[in-house]
Amino acid sequence: MGLNGKPLVSIIGAGMSKFGKHDGLLGREIFGLAATEAFSRCPKLDPKQDVKAMFIGHMGESYEHQGHMGATIADWIGLRGVAATRVEAACGSSGAALRTGIYAVLSGLSDVVIVGGVEKMTHRTTAEVTEYLAMAADYPFEQFHGITFPGLFAMMATAHMNAYGTTEQHLAKIASKNHHHGALNPKAHMQKEVPVETVMGSKYVAWPLKLYDCSLISDGASCIILTKPELAAKYTDQPVHIVGSGQATDAIGLYERDSLTSLQSTKLASKAAYEMANIKPEQVNLAEVHDCFTIAELIAYEDLGFCALGEGGKLVDSGATSLGGAIPVNTSGGLKSKGHPVGATGTAQAYEMYLQLTDQADKRQVKDAKVGLTHNIGGSGATAAVHIYRRDQ
Ligand SMILES: CC(C)(COP(=O)(O)OP(=O)(O)OC[C@H]1O[C@@H](n2cnc3c(N)ncnc32)[C@H](O)[C@@H]1OP(=O)(O)O)[C@@H](O)C(=O)NCCC(=O)NCCS
Repeated sequence: MGLNGKPLVSIIGAGMSKFGKHDGLLGREIFGLAATEAFSRCPKLDPKQDVKAMFIGHMGESYEHQGHMGATIADWIGLRGVAATRVEAACGSSGAALRTGIYAVLSGLSDVVIVGGVEKMTHRTTAEVTEYLAMAADYPFEQFHGITFPGLFAMMATAHMNAYGTTEQHLAKIASKNHHHGALNPKAHMQKEVPVETVMGSKYVAWPLKLYDCSLISDGASCIILTKPELAAKYTDQPVHIVGSGQATDAIGLYERDSLTSLQSTKLASKAAYEMANIKPEQVNLAEVHDCFTIAELIAYEDLGFCALGEGGKLVDSGATSLGGAIPVNTSGGLKSKGHPVGATGTAQAYEMYLQLTDQADKRQVKDAKVGLTHNIGGSGATAAVHIYRRDQ
C-alpha cells in the first residue's frame, strides 16, 4: 500500500497509568486511569456518543484469572454497548491492537476508536509470571523443555556476540541509558540512574544477560484515541498522524528461524511501514523500541535500519541513541526502566510518541522532533508491529 506519507489515522488523545506496582487495583481499574487521562486530553470528544469501537491488547487471563478483556474494559470505562475486542499477540498485543484500530478507521466502519492495552502482573510471583510469559514461546519444542524468555534472548545475545563481537558492556550501556531516560519520566516503574558498573556487577539471569539487562515485571495500562485524519481538527489542534503501519510474523520457535541475530518480523514490518510513510530510517527523529532485554534493543537498531547489520554495538558506543543524540531511543525509559506490563506496552510506546510530537515530554523532550517510530514485538519476535508518526509541520 503506497500511501506516500498520507496520514492513515490521527491520534487526538492519549493516556497512560503510572507503570509499576498497583497493589489492590484490578487491571480494568488501571485501564480506567489511562482512559481518564486520554479523555481529559481530548475534551471535545463525547466518548459515549463518538467512540464506535475498542481494541484492547491483553496478553493473558492467567495473571488475573480474567479473560474477555474487551467487554470488561468497555463496561468499566462507561462505554457499555460499544463494540470491544481483545487483541492478543503476547508482549506485542497492543501494537497489534493499534494496527487493528487503524484497519477499523481506514475501512470507514468506525470514525473514532480506542486502542489500548493492560496487564496486571506484580501480584504474581516471578516464577508464575515467567511461566505465563513462556506460553508465548513454542510449547512442544521450547516451553516443554523449560526454556523461558531470558534464555531465548540470551541465545540471541551469544549468537550476536559471536558473529559481530558485541560485548556485555554494549548491553550494559543500553540498560544504563534507558534507566537515565526513565529517571526523567514520572510514570516510569523504576525512576533511578543505574551506572554501567552496576549493570555489569548485577547477577546473571541467563548468561550473558544480567538482572539489569531484563525488563521489569509491572502493572500498567495505556490508551490512545484514533480518528480519521479529516476529522482530527474537530477534536484537537495538535493531532499526531500515523503515516506508516507494518505488522509481520516469523516462526514461533527460535530454532526454526533463518537467523538468531536478526528478527525477520521486524524487518518485514518496518519495510512495510517505511514504504507506506515514504520515509527512510535516517529521517526518523526518535524511536521507542521493544527492549524486553537489552540485546533486543541492539538488534532492533540493526533491523530498523538505524545502523548496518552487526554495528549495533558501535551505535551504542557513539551515544547516538541517548537523549541529545542523533536518534534518541526509548526516551520513556523503555521496557527496562518504564516497565513492561506486557499487554500495555505497544500503546504505551504510542503514548510517548504522542507526548514527544506534541511537545509535552517535559524533561525528556526531544527538540524539533517531527517523525517518530515505535517497534513492539511479541514473544521472542514471532510478531512485530512497527508504526511511524508525524506531527503537522
Ligand atoms: C529479571 C527477573 C527474573 C528478576 O526477578 P527476581 O529475581 O524475582 O527479582 P525480585 O522481584 O525478587 O526483585 C529483586 C530486586 O531486583 C529488582 N529488580 C527486579 N527485576 C528487575 C529488573 N528487571 N531490572 C532491575 N531491577 C530489577 C527489584 O526491584 C528488587 O530490588 P530491591 O531488592 O531493591 O527491592 C524478572 O524481573 C524478570 O523475569 N524480568 C523479565 C520479564 C520478561 O521476561 N518479560 C517479557 C519479555 S519477552
